[in-house]
Amino acid sequence: MIAALATPSSLHDGELTLLPLDSGIPALLVAASYDDEITRWTQVPQGMTLLDAGLVVAGWAGNERVVRLQVCLPELSPAGLVTVWINARDKAEVGYWLLEAARGHGVARRALAMLCDWTFASSDIDELELTTLPGNTASEKVAAACGFDDAGFIELDVKGERRSLRLWLRARDEEKRSAAGQRASVGT
Ligand SMILES: CC(C)(COP(=O)(O)OP(=O)(O)OC[C@H]1O[C@@H](n2cnc3c(N)ncnc32)[C@H](O)[C@@H]1OP(=O)(O)O)[C@@H](O)C(=O)NCCC(=O)NCCS
Repeated sequence: MIAALATPSSLHDGELTLLPLDSGIPALLVAASYDDEITRWTQVPQGMTLLDAGLVVAGWAGNERVVRLQVCLPELSPAGLVTVWINARDKAEVGYWLLEAARGHGVARRALAMLCDWTFASSDIDELELTTLPGNTASEKVAAACGFDDAGFIELDVKGERRSLRLWLRARDEEKRSAAGQRASVGT
């Protein structure tokens, strides 16, 4: 059973930064709720007000089973969110979305790669899940580019509707796991 996830202060890969949530998050969520691609493919509801978004964000506080990080690029306001959480099946799952201004430049795969590397490095989690709705080709490409393997279909609720989603799995890097195992066995 996975108990809790720690939140990093920030993650960088040179140009891209993943930052913890701040007071700008409700506005980012409102923008996402008016982005047809985001509301089509994710759980983000359509047409939120700032008050709606503020209430949603307030409800996120104190949940140690979810880490949300905003995706920041130079010269752009925060442009998206990446999330890792412990899902209802007690598995670690990742998700992501970007506002239109940040899409189409390979940002999601870099942000997701950082999130996955950090999750494996900072926890005992051995496997990450990701789900995509059928037809979300851009997200499928991001998943595959980040080392996730197609694991078939899974039935889940999406905005109150039972849907069949493609399940993707990425195991902890085997070389790192065996190196960690060797270190652990040297220490015992
Ligand atoms: C999915 C998403 C995060 C991808 O982010 P991105 O940084 O724009 O992705 P990339 O620029 O790396 O593009 C990924 C690939 O999809 C392709 N692509 C982009 N938009 C596409 C579209 N509408 N249809 C088909 N392919 C598309 C790109 O050409 C690229 O292909 P390549 O790997 O062969 O070069 C972004 O499109 C998004 O936020 N979409 C709405 C929310 C969403 O779907 N979230 C994921 C839910 S599972």
